[in-house]
Amino acid sequence: MYNAFFGFSQSPFNMSPDPSFLFRSPQHEEALANLIYGVQSRKGFIVLTGEVGTGKTTMLECLRDFLNAQQIAFASLFNSRLTVEQFFELLAYDLDLRCNRLSKTEVLLSLNSVLLDRAAAGRTTVLIVDEAHNLDWDVLEEIRLLGNLENRRGKLLQIVLAGQQELDEKLERPEYRQLKQRIALRCALRGFDLQETAAYINARMAGVGVPNQPYIQRPILQELQIRSKGIPRIINAICDNLLLTCFAMETRTATLDMLDEVTADMRLEWEEEPRVAVNGGFGQANGTKVPSTNANL
Ligand SMILES: Nc1ncnc2c1ncn2[C@@H]1O[C@H](COP(=O)(O)OP(=O)(O)OP(=O)(O)O)[C@@H](O)[C@H]1O
Ligand SMILES: [Mg+2]
Repeated sequence: MYNAFFGFSQSPFNMSPDPSFLFRSPQHEEALANLIYGVQSRKGFIVLTGEVGTGKTTMLECLRDFLNAQQIAFASLFNSRLTVEQFFELLAYDLDLRCNRLSKTEVLLSLNSVLLDRAAAGRTTVLIVDEAHNLDWDVLEEIRLLGNLENRRGKLLQIVLAGQQELDEKLERPEYRQLKQRIALRCALRGFDLQETAAYINARMAGVGVPNQPYIQRPILQELQIRSKGIPRIINAICDNLLLTCFAMETRTATLDMLDEVTADMRLEWEEEPRVAVNGGFGQANGTKVPSTNANL
């Protein structure tokens, strides 16, 4: 809607996990390097966790691009609210196993022989599970057992589990200790700091034709980082709404009033900044700040 007004070739802040918009922050770079290294060196289990909206699915999309480019076979499960039977059916479907996909025994036999053949030919096979925090114990247990398949040279199936922080918490529980012990690599994503937030916003606009964007300036960026907690999905939503407000008001510069309106409309809640001592007293904190809870996005 506002693209022509700001000179964008396409929308800079859309919500899809599109690798072509990838901003290589150090933590995203490290997470992706871990995923690729873990898969290539047949480490077995790799776990990626992070707060809602920090870029886990985007990382998995990048990994899938890499696997496709390297012609590495993979199964990819997005819907983790699965029964054991559904899990094996989807696995067989994704890996194109020639067997009765409704029979767990047949899927396992077929999977084992396909994995052995692939490993003998020097080929890697990967299972990617997004939203893994939703997996029931019995499905996670089946995944753990799949992780046990190995030949002399290493694991036959590389397993990437990505999920929200509940996954980390789950893995701390006694009933998951066997799985926890098998995790070879773990990485986590958090919100961006101010520098990263500014660089992220600049990179997204540069990607659609506006380098060194002049629309959202430093003081607003600072507030935006606090209110979004540096979470990319929330940053996208705020920036999109800010630009829309600018467009409606026929101005190319976002203001604090606009940010207040946008974050109020989004029902965002953020942590109060620590008050700074001024002349023996305390300076007043700005804005509508309340104790932090999860932003409802
Ligand atoms: N490094 C990044 N570069 C570019 N965009 C990013 C990056 N990280 C996150 N985003 C953007 O933030 C939004 C949320 O990302 P994504 O869906 O990958 O998060 P998530 O961690 O999988 O969230 P959820 O916990 O809800 O599954 C997307 O619009 C995505 O494009
Ligand atoms: Mg996701």
